[in-house]
Amino acid sequence: MQDQLNALKLGFEQEMAQAKSADDVARIESKYLGRKGLMADLMKQLPGLPAAERPKMGNLANDIKRQLELMLASRRRQLDEEKMANLAESERVDVTEPGARPPEGHLHPMTKAINEITEIFERIGFVRTRYPEVDWDWYAFESLNMPEDHPARDEWETFFMDAPMSKKGRMVLTPHTSNSQVRELERGEFPVRMINIAKCYRRQSDATHVPMFHQFEGLYVDKGVSISHLRGVLDYFAREFFGPDRKTRLRPFHFRFTEPSFEIDVTCGVCGGTGVTADKQKCRMCKRGWLELGGAGMVHPNVLKAGGVDPKKYSGFAFGWGVERTYSMKGGLKLDDIRILYKNDLRFLKQF
Ligand code: FA5
Repeated sequence: MQDQLNALKLGFEQEMAQAKSADDVARIESKYLGRKGLMADLMKQLPGLPAAERPKMGNLANDIKRQLELMLASRRRQLDEEKMANLAESERVDVTEPGARPPEGHLHPMTKAINEITEIFERIGFVRTRYPEVDWDWYAFESLNMPEDHPARDEWETFFMDAPMSKKGRMVLTPHTSNSQVRELERGEFPVRMINIAKCYRRQSDATHVPMFHQFEGLYVDKGVSISHLRGVLDYFAREFFGPDRKTRLRPFHFRFTEPSFEIDVTCGVCGGTGVTADKQKCRMCKRGWLELGGAGMVHPNVLKAGGVDPKKYSGFAFGWGVERTYSMKGGLKLDDIRILYKNDLRFLKQF
């Protein structure tokens, strides 16, 4: 056992000579003197030695252990001193060096567009509202004059929730922001001047469609509201958002919840309204120079009634446009596939 103790000491000394850091010293300490270390292992032999040998070996082991501990303490002191001596160099701070700026992000272009649209409508007295983006069938369809099984619903390619039915029907991911119309009318406060901007969901994906998109829904209801008020508000918006060069047009259309109904088009920003791009290709964004932004019309009497409003006393207009499409038609922005907005590609997003 004596030989083994001496060999242990020798091994310890050799390893300590190589130790360069406090971590090295801690590792050696645990290897030799730890609870499951080499010294503890050797001590297990003591009870098996002849009685006369035991005190001698016990004393020797304790003696060696003390020596190892002294060596550890001394090496640690030495390392500390070296560290302090180098401190002036290793922790030198150049207070004149410019600070490292953390990378700065910015709002997503759609958030910026939503803020801009909100401000434009707020300037003429509209108030931004928030209504559910997961709503009852009643608000999304039925109250908008689209009874169950009506074929008009097909155009909305709706996602239904796997949730229990209620008196207001099934739950849907709102396929348009028009679910806000009857909810707003139910408040019974006039004049209604609402701008509701929210997420919409449809089972669609191509160069001009994404499955999750945003719409902004305007609703103006008061006594004596006419089509010329609608025209005036849409023209005002187009001028403020796109600039004075862009043209809009109203095309007769059919929606179940407005009568008469229109689709609003604006001249395409990619091809300048010609339908042909600079390299003589058919414009992938619009194909014929005009891009559909969304629908509009005079609120249908049945919708007013569904919201508890007397259509003999009140009239109003409503419009619903896509934020992504509206934004991609803004001056100078040549977005020929709107899906890029949601690809989280920083090379694209950093440009805004
Ligand atoms: C509607 O959703 C009607 N609720 C609009 C409306 C409101 C009419 C009030 C009358 C009164 P439409 O399905 O056409 O209509 O959609 C309106 C606009 O939303 C479209 O013109 C387009 O700009 C945008 N949009 C529709 N689906 C998508 C999609 N998958 N991806 C991106 N934008 C879309």
